[in-house]
Amino acid sequence: MARPARSRRGAMDRIVVEGGARLEGQVAASGSKNATLALMTAALLADGETVLRNVPRVRDVDVMLDLLAALGAPARWDDEEPAVVRILGGRVSRPEAPYDLVRRMRASFMVLGPLVARYGCGRVSEPGGCAIGVRPVDQHLRGLEALGAKVARDGGYVEMSARRLRGARFRFDVTTVNGTQNVMMAATLAEGETVLENAALEPEVVELARVLRAMGADIEGEGTSTLRIRGVEGLRPVDHTASGDRIEAGTLLVAGAITGGEVEVTGVEPRRLGATLDRLRETGAELRVGPDRVAIRAPERPRGIRVVTAPFPGFATDMQAQIMALLCVAEGASVVTETVFENRFMHVPELRRMGAEIALAGRSAHVRGVPRLSGAPVMATDLRASASLILAGLAAEGETRVNRVYHIDRGYERIEAKLAGLGARIRRESG
Ligand code: UD1
Repeated sequence: MARPARSRRGAMDRIVVEGGARLEGQVAASGSKNATLALMTAALLADGETVLRNVPRVRDVDVMLDLLAALGAPARWDDEEPAVVRILGGRVSRPEAPYDLVRRMRASFMVLGPLVARYGCGRVSEPGGCAIGVRPVDQHLRGLEALGAKVARDGGYVEMSARRLRGARFRFDVTTVNGTQNVMMAATLAEGETVLENAALEPEVVELARVLRAMGADIEGEGTSTLRIRGVEGLRPVDHTASGDRIEAGTLLVAGAITGGEVEVTGVEPRRLGATLDRLRETGAELRVGPDRVAIRAPERPRGIRVVTAPFPGFATDMQAQIMALLCVAEGASVVTETVFENRFMHVPELRRMGAEIALAGRSAHVRGVPRLSGAPVMATDLRASASLILAGLAAEGETRVNRVYHIDRGYERIEAKLAGLGARIRRESG
């Protein structure tokens, strides 16, 4: 059988949406992109083959595969089974994450902890800023330093080394998801006990902790703000099925909501969607939850609400742009406050071009709902912002062309096919 294609979709493709169709039906969430990216780096900690299942076929996963391969760890999509990735840990020959890959995906920085812990050294390009903010990595570095790693900076790279990391007590100054994951992974192989305080509570951190435990790590406290990790001598590879993607699921629920439709998303635990479900209910939608699914029945027009992003279990910053698209067509006023990233409103000028009434004041967007948006050519420079423009297009009169879908393909698997399956008039055009 032929090798499965990597995401071959063109960077300049665009998605064209003809608005106005009411979405109906059932759709399956893919595996969680963010959970998978962390789990792929964890494979570096073990000797032997780690198998990850339910992996979404998105560009960020391909970048992580390239990065693992660049380090010398054979990593690939399975030849025959879809959504399966195989990674051979214990084979790193060049513990360096090059600029070109880290620049394309900040999550690459998470290889640093496993590299230092398992190989005694790691060299990773500094990620720099990105479209949604400055996004420093100081907490990752301070946490690894607390475990005894020596840090040097050279030519845009961070270099870390340690003969063996030592357990320590460390408190994160800000809650950071990937920072918690990075330091937690490193601590699994340190000598003695590590206590991490103010750890992130996100489901992806919990999933990583559980997988590390299945690999032989001694971790307690996942899902609380204090993680206790007793270092072990070595970890074994695992075979793990990634959880459903809560952000993709949330995006598909908003697609149902914004078209006044009725949509059921399967393959995701409702608990992981946390405050997204609460806010959708406040807009007047009826939600039904099962163990691995959520169904939404939306009123013809949603009500305006207040949304404040916050670390889990608060409202996810990764859902902020999408819910804002919904609030643009709500009855009444809404306020959306972004507290996690300082510059995550790039979708606002584009939504305005579609007729949305939004005023920005510091970290808040004041939205006055309009009865209808109008289609327009738009583009965004960030994954979730691009998703919000597709959602807006579903509710707009006429045609919306979302350019540079490169960003969408980083984190959504065949979003146009999933939406089309629910009745959306949507297609991809190659650029
Ligand atoms: C992860 C997610 C991303 C999500 C974000 C917040 C992945 C691959 N990405 O990103 O989709 O939007 O969580 O839920 O899982 N910060 C510092 N110093 C640090 C690290 C972070 O100041 O060393 C700040 C950031 O600038 C930001 C805040 O902490 O303001 C939260 O960021 P963080 O949780 O680290 O985001 P990521 O883990 O990078």
